[in-house]
Amino acid sequence: MAFPYKKVLLIGATSGIGLEAANQLVAQGVNVIAVGRRQDRLDSFVAANADAPGKASGVALDISAIEQIPAFAQRIIDAHPDLDCVFLNAGIQYVMDFSKPWTVDLSKIQQEITVNYVSMVALTHAFVPFFQDKAAKQEKVAFIYTTTSLMSLPYPMVLNYSASKAALHSFILGIREQFKHAGQDVGVLELVTPLVQTELHNGQPGWGPDFNPGMPVDVFVKAALDGFVAGEETVAVGQAKAVYDEFEAEKGRRVGPVWAGIRKAMGKAHTFD
Ligand SMILES: NC(=O)c1ccc[n+]([C@@H]2O[C@H](COP(=O)([O-])OP(=O)(O)OC[C@H]3O[C@@H](n4cnc5c(N)ncnc54)[C@H](OP(=O)(O)O)[C@@H]3O)[C@@H](O)[C@H]2O)c1
Repeated sequence: MAFPYKKVLLIGATSGIGLEAANQLVAQGVNVIAVGRRQDRLDSFVAANADAPGKASGVALDISAIEQIPAFAQRIIDAHPDLDCVFLNAGIQYVMDFSKPWTVDLSKIQQEITVNYVSMVALTHAFVPFFQDKAAKQEKVAFIYTTTSLMSLPYPMVLNYSASKAALHSFILGIREQFKHAGQDVGVLELVTPLVQTELHNGQPGWGPDFNPGMPVDVFVKAALDGFVAGEETVAVGQAKAVYDEFEAEKGRRVGPVWAGIRKAMGKAHTFD
C-alpha cells in the first residue's frame, strides 16, 4: 500500500519531523510543497530532491501572520488544483516556570498559542471549502495535524505548549465530527508524537548538542508514515501511544455519540440548519 495522498502541502517542513516527512514522502513518489519561514532551508530541500523533478517545491510563510493566510491558501489552490492533503506540522515550544515569574514572557505565551493553535485553525479554515468541493466529487482529501502526548499529560516546564496542543486536539475531535455529521468525507488525521530528536528544543535550558534525547527523527517519521499508509486516523508512536491509549482513546470514541445524544435532546439548538 502507498501513502494515500498524492500532493501534500507540508506546513513546518524546514527542519525536524516536517523536513524528514517531506523527504520520505518525495522518496515514495508523493509531491510535496514545503512551507516554513526559512527560505534557505526550503531551497536546500528542493536541491536535495533534484533527482525527483517537480516533486519538491517550497513556499515561505510565517504562519503567525494570520491575516496573510487566506491569500496564501488561494495562491496554493490556484497553483496546485490537485492538492489533496494539508499536513499541519509546524510548532514551537518555550520553557517557563510560574514559580519563578521572571522566567515567564507573556509574548511567548501568545506566540505559542498563535503558532500551535490559531494558525492551525486559520489554515484549516482557508482550505475547508476547497476540500469540501473535492470530497463532493469523491476525491480523497485530508488534513493531518501533529500533536503530542503532552496534550494529555502536560509537562509542567512547557505548560503553555501542552495547553496549546490540548486545544489543537480538541479542535481535531470537534472538526472531525462536524465533517462526519455533515456527510462530508474530509479526512481529519492526527499524528501523536513522542519525544523526537529535532530542533524543537534548541535553546532550551540544559538542551544542546550533547543532550537531545528522544526517538531518531527518521525512525519516528517512518513509523508515522507507515501508520497513515495503513489507513489509521490517529497515528500514535512509541511512548505517545501508551499515553494516548490511556487518556485519549475513549474520549475520541465518545465525542460523536455524546453530540448525537445532545442533538436528539435539544433538537435544533446549536445548529445552523
Ligand atoms: N520533537 C519533539 O520531541 C516533538 C514532540 C511532540 C510533538 N512535536 C511536534 O512536532 C511538530 C514538528 O516539530 P519538530 O520537533 O520537528 O521541531 P522543529 O525541528 O523545530 O520544526 C518546527 C517546524 O515548524 C516551523 N515553524 C515554526 N514556527 C513557524 C512559523 N511561525 N511559520 C511557519 N513555520 C513555522 C519551522 O519552520 P521555520 O522555523 O523555518 O519557520 C519548522 O519547519 C511540532 O508541531 C511539534 O510541536 C515534536
